[in-house]
Parts: sequence; structure tokens; C-alpha cells
Amino acid sequence: MIQNVKLDFKHTNITEKDFMEYADEVVVAHEELHKKIKDKNEPLGWLEWPTKYDKKELEKIKKAAKKIQSDSEVLLVIGIGGSYLGARAVIEALNHTFYNYLPKEQRKTPQIIYVGNNLSPNYISDVIDLIGTRDISINVISKSGTTTEPAIAFRMFRELMENKYGLKEAKKRIYVTTDKKEGALKQIANQEDYTTFVIPSNIGGRYSVLTPVGLLPIAVSGINIDKLLEGARFAQEKYLDSNLKYNDCYKYAVIRNMLYRNQKGIEILVSYEPKLHYLIEWWKQLFGESEGKNGKGIYPTGAEFTTDLHSLGQYIQEGRRFLFETTINIKESATDIKINQDEDNLDELNYLVNKGLDEVNKKAMEGVIKAHEEGGVPNIVITMDKLNEYNLGHLIYFFELACAMSGTLLGVNPFNQPGVEKYKANMFELLGKTKNNGQTKKEAKTKKTSEKNQDTNKLGKRKKESEPEVEKVNKEDKTKEKKVEKPARKKKTGKGKHAE
Ligand code: PA5
Repeated sequence: MIQNVKLDFKHTNITEKDFMEYADEVVVAHEELHKKIKDKNEPLGWLEWPTKYDKKELEKIKKAAKKIQSDSEVLLVIGIGGSYLGARAVIEALNHTFYNYLPKEQRKTPQIIYVGNNLSPNYISDVIDLIGTRDISINVISKSGTTTEPAIAFRMFRELMENKYGLKEAKKRIYVTTDKKEGALKQIANQEDYTTFVIPSNIGGRYSVLTPVGLLPIAVSGINIDKLLEGARFAQEKYLDSNLKYNDCYKYAVIRNMLYRNQKGIEILVSYEPKLHYLIEWWKQLFGESEGKNGKGIYPTGAEFTTDLHSLGQYIQEGRRFLFETTINIKESATDIKINQDEDNLDELNYLVNKGLDEVNKKAMEGVIKAHEEGGVPNIVITMDKLNEYNLGHLIYFFELACAMSGTLLGVNPFNQPGVEKYKANMFELLGKTKNNGQTKKEAKTKKTSEKNQDTNKLGKRKKESEPEVEKVNKEDKTKEKKVEKPARKKKTGKGKHAE
């Protein structure tokens, strides 16, 4: 079988004989996972998703992506946690390192800007400045449809869109990815007639990158989503084998659990490729939310080498011995650059002449693994042949399945996140939120309307003070001026859908 993603555990001190003691436990967990998938209420839809995804929805995604590419210079992706990290992980891994900074002629596809993943007013304000007068579309993603951060960002940017384009055109530029039936976002989408994409009810946020949650923004950036799914499909088939001896994905799950039981409570996911920064972030969420509960769980963290060897390196080498590392090694770099001869050799680098930078990077990796292993930090190495759609789809599925297996072996439910609610409850209390704020539906609607007017004024004011470009373009660019209508929401006085 093709080994486009390969596991190597020789730097862990754990032998095949050691981990095969878990073989029976793994078979039981594997069968349980696969048995449960028949129950549509179990959050296991991701397990067979690469073969059972909705083909029509995929075509709809591709069509929407083309439209966004043709009419927008910027796509705002509004979402947080599992409704954000996966898309960003794939977009940043597979595109140019400086994708968003490239001139648009070179980039060819829209800039992708992520909002709704924090509550900083500076961030939102700076995004508004960054967008300037350029054409935008929004993809708002929330399974529950009620998550505070994206909901606030959507309220703000929806209004900005409506002020910029008018209600009718704004509707054509807002794409909603949410539950099929439930949640506030679904209600808004129905009311406003936005294009919607469905998050399958049996796939939780952090397992949803290969659903419309990730696929629409990923496709907009020009990545081949068919290939991504193809790689995941290959992995689905490859890791169907419940025999631990032949299943690298389950080996990873077992070995990390063995290390955990051996006082290694922190796992550092390491990469030598900066493009994988957000893959590490996605992985941290996947494992952190899935395993950290009931007072248990490996704490997942990340490091980017060689950068972090000059910050965290000292601790990893000689600090508290509760760490292990999982290194992602990309065998063939997409590009390489040779180091040239310098007659003076004052920097004493001539010993590297004619070597590619990738070789230097790889030797750094080998040196680090050896040093860390000797220093008491076991290393698991996952090698990908190349960083491409197919292999990344494979790796995503690998981590999702490994996480489900690892959580099960740990004795926790890897699909819930009850701990996330605690801060929300405190925050809502501090902000004075009560259920419906004690209002009847009608009162709530009236209040919403008057708040909307106030908000509109606020954003309108902002527009005048710090974003004159929008108006300037309207005046200077006659074509645009024609397109821009005043939002009906502001004009209408008592009739129709948007009557205030
Ligand atoms: O993995 C999860 O379930 C969470 O991280 C969610 O994705 C995150 O909280 C966002 O939730 P929602 O998509 O409902 O807005």
C-alpha cells in the first residue's frame, strides 16, 4: 500500500511488542466506533464522510466558490474553533506562504480574512480598514448558530455589507454554513434568503473541516477540494483495519496513551514548515477539546522549528521531563534553494555550498530528534511524502481517527466539550444576559429593531469618520455608484420583510 503518510516510533523507546499489548483494547474501541456510526444521533458522521459526503452539496460549494472568486477581492470567513481552524489550516498549508500579501494579479483568488474568532474591537476595526473599498463576500460558519464571537462579527459585517451594497446585492454575497434546521443563524438565513450550506448534524465542529465548514473557504482560495477528499477517502479505507499491527493511525493513538501513562503529559506537535502553523492550531483544538476532561488528558501544544529552538528549545532539551514530541516531516519540499559560494567566507558557511536549504532543514530535524530523544523527550515522527491536497486530506483523517481512538482509550468522550460552557456562563452573567433577556418574542423583536437602528447609526458614523473610501468610490466610480442602493432596512417604514 502507498505510504504517503507514514508513522515512525523508533525514537520513543516503545517497541511493537510493548504496544501490541493494547491490540485487544483497540479492536473493541474500533468496533464500538464503527457500530455507533449506524446511529445517526452519534457524532460519528466524519468517520465515513470521505465516502458518504453529499455530492450535490459539493457541486454547490464549487459553484459558490467560483462566484466568490469572480465577484470578490476579499472573502471574510466568520467562525471560531472547529468552524474556523480547519479551513485556515488547509488554506495556509497549501497556498503561498504570503497568499494574502501577494498582489491580486499573482494571487488570482480572493484574499481570505478570518473574523469572529476573537472579541477584539481593534481586530474588527482593522479588518474594516483592510477591506477598504474592495468587493467582499462573507461566509459565516456556525453549527449552533449562537456562538457569541461569530454572531457579533456577523451582525457587524452584515450591516457593513448592507450599507455598502444595499440589501439585495448583500444577500447575494452572504453564504451561511450552519445546521440544516436549527439555530439562530439558520433562522436569519431563512428570513434573508441567504445561500446556505449544511453542517451534518452528526459531525461536531472540530471534526468538520472536510464538510462545507472547511470546503467553501478552501475552494475559494483555489485549492482542489476533490483531491483533499480523495486523500481522506484513501485514509478512511487504509485505517479500516482494526489490527493494531497494520494500523499506523491506531499506533499513534496507543503510543501517545502509553507515553501519557508514563508521565509524559504534554505533547508538542512540531513542524519545520511555517505553512503548517494553523494545522498545529487545528490539531491543538482537536485533541485538546476531545481529550481534556474528567481531570485527564494530554495537554496538546505546538512548536515551529527551527524558529522555536531559539525560544522553547532550552526547556524542551533540559526542562521538566513531562514532554513528548510528534514531528511532522515533509519529505519533499515543494521548492528548494541552493546555498552559493562566497569567496570571503566571513560567515563560514562555505561548507554548505551547493547544498539545498531543505537539506539543512532536514539535518536540523534529525539533529533535534536525536538530541531531544537523548534528553528524555520521546519523538514520534509522521512523514508525508509531499505537502499537497491528497496527503493533507489523508493526514486530517489520520488525526481525526487517532483522536477518537485515543480519547476512547483514555476513557473520555472525545466528542463533547462541556468545559467550554463555564466561561460563557460567567461572561453572560457579567454582561447581564438572561434567557431572552426576559422579553416576549414580540418585545425582543421590537428591541432588536431599535438596536439595529442604533447599530446602523454607529456603523454609519464609523463609515463617515474612518472609512470615507466607500463613499469616495461611490462618487468616483459610476458603475459602483449605480450598484449601491440604500438598504431597504433603513428606508422601509412599515411594510415588507424588513419593516422596522
Ligand atoms: O469543536 C467544537 O465543537 C467547537 O470548537 C465549535 O466548533 C466552536 O465552539 C464553534 O461552534 P459553532 O460552530 O456552533 O459556532
